[in-house]
Order: sequence, then C-alpha cells, then structure tokens
Amino acid sequence: MSNIPGPPLSRVLTLEIARVTEAAAISAARLRGRGDEKSADQAAVDAMRRELNKLSIDGTVVIGEGERDEAPMLFIGENVGSGDGPKVDIAVDPLEGTTIAAKALPDSLAVLALAEGGSLLNSPDIYMDKIAIGPGYEPNLVDLDASPEENLNNLAKAKGVPVAEITACVLDRPRHAKLIAGIRNAGAAIKLIGDGDIAGVIHTTNYEETGIDIYMGVGGAPEGVLAAAALRCIGGQMQGRLFPMKENDTERAHNMGIEDINKKYAMEELAKGDVLFSATGVTDGSMLAGVKWRPRSIETETVVMRSATKTVRWIRTEHRSNKYI
Ligand code: FBP
Repeated sequence: MSNIPGPPLSRVLTLEIARVTEAAAISAARLRGRGDEKSADQAAVDAMRRELNKLSIDGTVVIGEGERDEAPMLFIGENVGSGDGPKVDIAVDPLEGTTIAAKALPDSLAVLALAEGGSLLNSPDIYMDKIAIGPGYEPNLVDLDASPEENLNNLAKAKGVPVAEITACVLDRPRHAKLIAGIRNAGAAIKLIGDGDIAGVIHTTNYEETGIDIYMGVGGAPEGVLAAAALRCIGGQMQGRLFPMKENDTERAHNMGIEDINKKYAMEELAKGDVLFSATGVTDGSMLAGVKWRPRSIETETVVMRSATKTVRWIRTEHRSNKYI
C-alpha cells in the first residue's frame, strides 16, 4: 500500500454533492416560467440547505445568498452539514439565472462547489471582471490587463486560426459597450448571453460543442469563484478582479478580509486545493438538460467534477423516490 496521502476530500462526496444540486434544481423547476424569481430562488435555497445538512461535513458557506443580515439561509458564514466530517468551504448558487428560470428561458442551473476549508476566495456579492479560456494553451496566454485586441490575437495565434474564427462569450450589458467594440475591432465574433456566466466560462472548455473560445467581461463575483472551481476541475485558465460598482462595495470586501480590491486573482487563488463542483440543469440549456417530469419519475441532468483527478461525470438521474414525486 502507498504511503502517499490521497486528496483530502473523500471522492464519495462527489456523488453526495450531485444529490444536493439535483434537489435544488427539482425544487426550482417546479416554479419555472412563473415570473416569480424570488420564489424559485427560495425553493432552490431551501432544498439545497436541507440536502447539505445531511452531509457528513463541517461546512462553512463562503459564497452564498448574501451576507448574514440580508439572507435568511445559506448566508455567508452559515455552518452547514452534520458537523462530523472534514472542514470544508461551500460556495452555492442555488439558482444561477433566476430571471431565466422565471421566464423559462435556457441555461438556468443549480450550482455548488465544495473545497478544503480556507480554499475559496471569500467574496461579497459584488461584481468581478473575468477572463477565461479552455485547456491546452500555454499559461498566461490571456490577461485581464491586456486589451481585448491583444488577448484575441494571442489566442487566435495559439489556436492557429485567424481572429475571425474566434468567438468570445460576453454578458449582454450596457457596461460592456467598450469591451464589445474592442472585440469587434479585433475581428472576432461575439456570443452575447442574457444571463448565466458560470456556464459562459465553462463553455470555453468545450469549443467543439459550444463554439466559444473565450469568456470576457464583468459578472457576479460569486459566479466567478464558482466558475474558477469548475475550471480547476475541467482544466482551462481564468483570471478575476473584483469590480466595485456601488459606494460600499470596497468596504464590504475589506470586511471579508480582502485588503487589495484591485488584486488580479489567478484561477488557483479564486479556488485552490482540492475542489469538487456540481451543476444540475433547471431549464434546458447548452450545457445541461433541464428537469423533466415523466409519468412515474423526474429526470435531471448533472455535471459533477473533481479537481484531484480531473474527472468530469455527466449524470442523468431518474428520481423515483416519493420524496420528489
Ligand atoms: P442571478 O442568478 O443572481 O440572477 O445571476 C445571473 C447572472 O447573469 C450571473 O450569471 C452573472 O454573473 C450576473 O447575473 C451578472 O449580473 P447583472 O445581471 O447584474 O449584470
């Protein structure tokens, strides 16, 4: 037997966290297309918390539904799990894409990452500037401090194609006018998405299916940490830098231990150590099918990943337990 210690997180937890996102997705899907973002989100939060508390972990929510005074559940700092397992950081987005779920549009997800205690960036729910590409490129090929033109030219050169064959994924927001102009000026195509930039980042890892080479732009910081956790498992490169927009954003970050608001975080600083990631589709999307109601079962599709082995599992589950039906 080898004396080399294994990864700190038990691999059994991989399936356990898939159960957690499945439960959140099913609960949110019951409220798909009802135009009620809050109720759909609350349903996902309740289910995720209930399932998390069944796990043998001593978990602390570090990326959650908000700070303690603004979120009744899964708030930052909340303890979850039975308390008798490993000390872990938990990052949750019980319903990523609340608006799309409420409108029954594609690509809303239930998302969770679990990492060794102290491994995930403790960030408030402010914005983050992000850049990400898939695996197989030399380190630091793209950089938040370079212009869009420079990044796209470097990427095209490394891929061995003209820039015109590169596609960037960007959130469709007025704040991205300059970025979009820069990308167009470089000659690349843009896939504008309405919401859901965790999937946007993950899409860069599978160009053949998604047609997306690079993710660029400002989205949620919690989503940035979750996307970095996924990329740590699948492979790829990402950088993030907090992007304060409101008056007290910098103070909120300071209160959470972030001294330098302008720090550029490498992917390994956003999510370090042993990391597990799970996402289940709520509505049908480009990454995962949404929850389906069958005559005697409920079907979910989940992707679950583990950084220690870089295993990516696609799980289609038929739920027959009367817990759900
Ligand atoms: P929610 O699920 O919180 O609605 O987030 C959806 C989302 O599109 C994220 O994927 C993204 O990071 C963020 O919102 C962008 O924020 P904003 O809509 O304020 O531009």
